[in-house]
Amino acid sequence: MIMGIVMVIMVMAMVIMVMAMVIMVIIPIPGAAAVIDLDVTSDASLAALAPAVSAHTPQLDLVIYAAGLLHRRHAPPGEPAGPERRLADVSRDSLTAAMAVNGFGPILAAAALEKLVPRRDRHAVWATLTARVGSIGDNGLGGWYAYRASKAAANMLMRTLAIEWRRSRPAATVLAIHPGTVATPLSAPFRSPDHPGVLPAADAADNILARIADAEPSLSGSFLAYDGSPIEW
Ligand SMILES: NC(=O)c1ccc[n+]([C@@H]2O[C@H](COP(=O)([O-])OP(=O)(O)OC[C@H]3O[C@@H](n4cnc5c(N)ncnc54)[C@H](OP(=O)(O)O)[C@@H]3O)[C@@H](O)[C@H]2O)c1
Repeated sequence: MIMGIVMVIMVMAMVIMVMAMVIMVIIPIPGAAAVIDLDVTSDASLAALAPAVSAHTPQLDLVIYAAGLLHRRHAPPGEPAGPERRLADVSRDSLTAAMAVNGFGPILAAAALEKLVPRRDRHAVWATLTARVGSIGDNGLGGWYAYRASKAAANMLMRTLAIEWRRSRPAATVLAIHPGTVATPLSAPFRSPDHPGVLPAADAADNILARIADAEPSLSGSFLAYDGSPIEW
């Protein structure tokens, strides 16, 4: 089963991030990282998350949701493992798998962790890594049905969360961030070695941290590219 995400946490302003895009280690200075297993498709795992995080910190100043699924490593026999190239490739299983991790995962994680996000006395950032291909307006190529739809769903859910937290957590900023094409296992089958514009994971992490550093509450609910430019919904 898929495990081993991301969750971390810090109460300090200074962080060092070591990132292979998804396993994020955010290290408070001074201090050590805590790595907590989470399967975002499991209600039991989500229910255990806040108690596990609370053992390390009373509140979260930053959460980066970086789980993602583009191709299935365990597709049922006879079904394509990769993202759909045509309608005939679409299946309930592929739609459900992508939606569970990419679409519903970020909002369920937010629901699980909400009580640890400061109400108004401290600035907090919730950043979900979505994808430009989740933009409906920008979709000129087609294909990748499940991934596109699940990222569009995540964008909508983050926008909706931003509106709720504007009232209940006015110092919080919720962002959907497109990290660019990054050299990770997710993108590996879809890029050639000389694919233009592929970012090393460390550079992508720097870009994401720059977006987070700029994350004023007035930007909450934005869908941004890694360079800070807005992406149409
Ligand atoms: N790489 C790119 O070019 C690119 C472009 C646009 C957007 N993005 C987005 O950026 C984010 C990071 O992508 P990446 O490139 O780092 O992908 P990656 O290398 O494939 O990593 C994906 C991560 O998601 C985790 N994950 C999958 N299902 C999970 C679940 N049910 N519960 C918890 N964790 C789960 C995986 O954990 P396991 O290894 O344990 O399965 C893995 O650590 C994703 O949201 C992706 O869609 C990436």
